Formats: sequence, C-alpha cells, structure tokens
Amino acid sequence: MSEAISIAVVGSGYVGLVAAVCFAEMGHDVICVDNDERKVAALQGGDTLIHENYLPELLERYRNTKVRFTTDLAEATRECEAIFIAVGTPQSETGDADLSYVEAVACEIARSLTSYKVIVEKSTVPVYTNEWIRRAIERNGVARELFDVVSNPEFLREGTAVVDFLHPDRIVVGADSERAAALLNGIYAPLTTGEYYTRPSHIEGVCNVATPPPLLNTSTKSAEIIKHASNAFLAVKISFINAVSNLCEATDANVEQVARGIGLDSRIGPKFLRPGIGYGGSCFPKDVAAFRSVAEQLGIDFGMLSEVEKINASQKKRFLAKVRSALWTLRGKRLAVLGLAFKGETDDIRESPAIDLVEMLIGEGCTVAAYDPAAIKRTEQELPAGAQLRYATDAFDAANDADALLVLTDWAEFAAIDLDKLYATLRYPIVIDGRNLFDPSVMQEHGFTYLSVGRPSVGPVRDRRRNDPAGVAAN
Ligand code: UDX
Repeated sequence: MSEAISIAVVGSGYVGLVAAVCFAEMGHDVICVDNDERKVAALQGGDTLIHENYLPELLERYRNTKVRFTTDLAEATRECEAIFIAVGTPQSETGDADLSYVEAVACEIARSLTSYKVIVEKSTVPVYTNEWIRRAIERNGVARELFDVVSNPEFLREGTAVVDFLHPDRIVVGADSERAAALLNGIYAPLTTGEYYTRPSHIEGVCNVATPPPLLNTSTKSAEIIKHASNAFLAVKISFINAVSNLCEATDANVEQVARGIGLDSRIGPKFLRPGIGYGGSCFPKDVAAFRSVAEQLGIDFGMLSEVEKINASQKKRFLAKVRSALWTLRGKRLAVLGLAFKGETDDIRESPAIDLVEMLIGEGCTVAAYDPAAIKRTEQELPAGAQLRYATDAFDAANDADALLVLTDWAEFAAIDLDKLYATLRYPIVIDGRNLFDPSVMQEHGFTYLSVGRPSVGPVRDRRRNDPAGVAAN
C-alpha cells in the first residue's frame, strides 16, 4: 500500500472537487479549501453543487473523513505537504487567461508558509505562470528553499471526470526540483504502480482493472505547454472534421464514413472526429484563445488557431441556415430544442453552442420550447423564460405541436427517445440534428424528414400523415 500523503486542494469547482475526492479514493488525506462559506457548508452536507457522474458517491464516502472542507487556507497550508491550486482562470477581454485568483491564492499560501511545501498548479495556466507564482511567494518574504512550484495539468472531461482522473491516459508532472517531483510521483504512485487497480472499485459499474498510466516527468514550462497544446490540438481536430463535414454536405458524401476512413489511420486516431455545431465548454474556447494569445505575445504566428476559432463560430451559423432551409421561413415558427448543456451528461452551459443557437433562433423570431435533462436551472438564470422561450418538463413536452425538433446536445437519453411517440407529438415530423445522434435510415423509416451534419438529408419512406409537408425539406 502506497503512503498516504496530506494534500490541500484550493478551489472546489469541477477540477478541485474531482481531484479532492479522487485523491481520497487513492488513499490520501485531503483538505479542500474554498473561500465561499455557503459552498463549503453544502459540500460538508454532501451536496456536490455540480452534476458530475460518480462524484456524489465518492463525496458521500469520504466527506468529513478523508476529505475535509474548510475556508481556512492558512490551516490547510500548515497541515499539508502539497497544495494544489485549482481555482478558475477565466478568459479576460484580450483572450488571455485571467490569473488574478491564482495570484491571490499564491500570496495567501505565502503568508502561512513556515515549512517546506510543494505548490502545484492544477488550473489551466499559460506558460510562465509557474515562475509568476514563485515570484509572488518570494515577494511575500518566503525563502526559496521553503517551497517548490510544480505544474501538474489535468485532462478531465466533464461528465467522465472521476473516471478520467482515476484512469488517465497519462499523468504529467512538470517540476524543476527533484524533491518536488518525488512528492508528486508519490501522490500518483497508487495509479502508476497499478496498486489502485488491484483494489475493489468504489465506483459502481466501473471496472477497476486497468493498465497503469505512464507518468511523464517534464520541466515546468513543458508541462504548462502540454496542457494548452493538448486542448488546442483537440479543438483543431473538431474544427477540421467540421470543415470536412461541410465539404461532405456540398458533395452528398457522408462524414461518418469519411471520419471512420481517416480515423482508422493510427497516426490520426478515431476520437474527436465527431462533427456538430462546434465545440464549447469551459476549456476549449478559453484555452484556444489563451494559447493563441501566448504565442502572439512571444512573437509567434499561430494563425492556424484563429482559423480553428473561425470554423467553430461558423458551424452555428451553418446550422441556423440548415434550419431555415428545412422550414423555409423562421419568423413565428415553433421549435422544440433538445439540449442546452455544451455537451451531454453535464449541466454545464459555459460557452454552450446550444444556448447561442437558442438565442439566434429567438432573434430570428422563432418560439422555442427547450428541454435539457440537467441544464435548465442554470440556463434559466442566464436566459429567463419569456414570450419566445419556454422550458419544457421533458422531450415530449418540448416537442408538443412543434414545427420541427432540433437536437443541440448529445445526451444519451435523446438518442434513446421513443421515435414513434416523437412522431406523434410533433406538428410536423422534421428533425434537424446538430449532433448526429440518429441513424438517418431509421429516422426515414419512422417517417421523419431528417437533416444532420455532414450526412445526406432524408425524407420519409412512408407517408404516415395526410397533408404531410415533410419530405419537401430533404434534399
Ligand atoms: C475538454 C478536454 O477534453 C479535457 O481534456 C480538458 O481537461 C478540458 O476540456 P470538456 O470540456 O469536458 O473537456 O469536453 P470534451 O468532451 O472534450 O468536449 C468539448 C467540446 O467539444 C464539447 O462541446 C463537445 O460537444 C465538442 N466535441 C467533442 C465535438 O464537437 N466533437 C468531438 O468529436 C468531440
């Protein structure tokens, strides 16, 4: 059994909270710090505050025992060997990451630092942040030998963050000191030695048998660049396949076949080649902009990333044009929208292309009935219901008497919808799918006019209704 290490995690958002409970699951003793008293009280009471699979189970298992929650960063600093900074790095107006929360935490840590600590950047930060943290701590009067700053980026996807943390493809530790690297290697030893995978899983339904992940020891700057470069590269893949899907639409080819054909090349790989309405979320848009801005500041032309952003934005406009092509005019149309979150299995609506599209549709004079299994509460706060927008209680409530149904988020439950019931609920059986959730031939068989991304549109095989205008839209 690896040694339990005392760890502080500062910030209890997606990254911090997942890291905290997963470190506990690995056997460590964790103090999770947040300056929001209400959040801390909620977490102590077992409320995760965010929708993330397996998080409630792990929180229930470890809260107030192996994971304690507090607002007291000074105490956590004194008690723990490693302090992970996992606070937000929002995008500023210039596209740069706003590092003021990171700086504030670094200064506060410095004020309570009396014995050697390893301070770990877990938030996504630009190259050189490590040095800034070090300087900020030194400026607060802390001797250099009392601390090291390490970069240990996370590669978690929302929705699968807990499994991603415990079964990572790789672990990156950027450290410029052997002592700090050794502590980080010790923290991840339960995973890298494979020991964790011999224990029974506490995550129901997840097989715990896995090949131990590689741990890559790098310089701090390399680790910082690995994080931004990884997210930027994945965004490149998505924009690339979106551009290819447009080419497929123009030629009546099928992007699914094309993606499979290129993805089978092991140099390319099959993942992140799903076309859609563009990437969103709290990471890709912000990280692509930040990486581009870092390059610019260093005098490096990374114009390719501007193209990636351009394609991403145009994907939403193309989808709107597709809706128009199916419905002729938009003003006054009643539309059902399935999905508000930036992707399925999460309640996160940050930079959600679905919400941008709902706003664009309202701007075109449509009336929207929107449903999402988890994201309605958050969306309502940003986009209150009104004359043109209603939040539905389920997918069929949204579809009720609608002129067409739009799929904007890839929730698994949408893919499993009862198509006969949907057909009977819609006013016109037209489905415009921005996430390619359905098989066109199945939709055709069920009588729908079906438009998706980068695949030929289909009209109904059978005329299941009299005076059915469906079919005119398919081309
Ligand atoms: C991403 C990275 O995957 C993760 O490693 C990093 O730590 C944080 O950012 P996340 O934002 O949770 O994770 O979502 P992800 O599953 O990567 O999807 C991002 C966006 O790209 C979503 O809007 C998704 O719908 C879109 N996407 C993803 C596509 O449009 N096509 C794809 O093939 C994959």
